[in-house]
Amino acid sequence: EPIPSADADDRLAAAVAAAERGGAVALDSFRSALDVETKADGPMDAVTAVDRAVQERIFESVGDAYPDDAVVGEEGDALKTVPDTGAAWVVDPIDGTVNYAKGNRVWMTSIAVCRDGEPVAAANYAPATDDLYVAGSGDARRNGDPVTVGDTADPNALLVNPVFGVSASHRRELSKAVDTVCIEFGDVRRFGCAQAALSGVATGELDAVASTVELNAWDTAAGVHLIRRAGGRATDVHGDRWRPGSTGLIASNGEAHDALVDAFDPVE
Ligand code: IPD
Ligand code: CA
Ligand code: CA
Ligand code: CA
Repeated sequence: EPIPSADADDRLAAAVAAAERGGAVALDSFRSALDVETKADGPMDAVTAVDRAVQERIFESVGDAYPDDAVVGEEGDALKTVPDTGAAWVVDPIDGTVNYAKGNRVWMTSIAVCRDGEPVAAANYAPATDDLYVAGSGDARRNGDPVTVGDTADPNALLVNPVFGVSASHRRELSKAVDTVCIEFGDVRRFGCAQAALSGVATGELDAVASTVELNAWDTAAGVHLIRRAGGRATDVHGDRWRPGSTGLIASNGEAHDALVDAFDPVE
């Protein structure tokens, strides 16, 4: 059943509350001694007990408010893909766990609400700097103030964050993407937190995020919604409208979007 925009905005308030609660749990253990475990893809695929505790806290909060909604989350046995119909919450308890575990401030608690497979509300909270990025059916906002994407149009002036997974096959793709940025655009930024990069495009701190491979919904959905509500564009690697599950993601301020798609689309 579709969520009317008023309900999307109600869910946004619940998403903000959940992101703040979850983020507070993570902040409590930030820069403390942590037992860092590695997942299937090695040391760059890190997880801690805090990641799991934060997700649990958020799921509790969402389950209390919207018990019939689906919940998608990175950790544990939660759903891993966004259902095509109905309301779904998409949660990355800590995006940027490698940064978090090293004591680097760039990590976020990310929550998107999707309706029929498309994000309609987003809350990205960066507890270490107390920055909150939100968007529902209206403006995107940072700490309560409306934000818009930047207006850099000259390809040679674009700051681009290539966002990739950590698996061995993605390393080659990442190195090609870094090459593409260095040769065809301005310069590379790698935040190590996909949602921070996407939030940065929404506020004009960055001009684009690029991936040629499929990314997980929890790394993308909230940030894509923020960018759209801030006046930017998000497509798959071929230039078609992005949805969770799309191949690749080109998310930009919109000014040089076609040049970015041309440069990253592997078939062209
Ligand atoms: C990772 C970060 C990283 C991105 C990876 C993600 P995690 O998320 O966002 O910047 O390049 O694709 O998996 O594992 O720290 O939540
Ligand atoms: Ca992870
Ligand atoms: Ca992530
Ligand atoms: Ca994570």
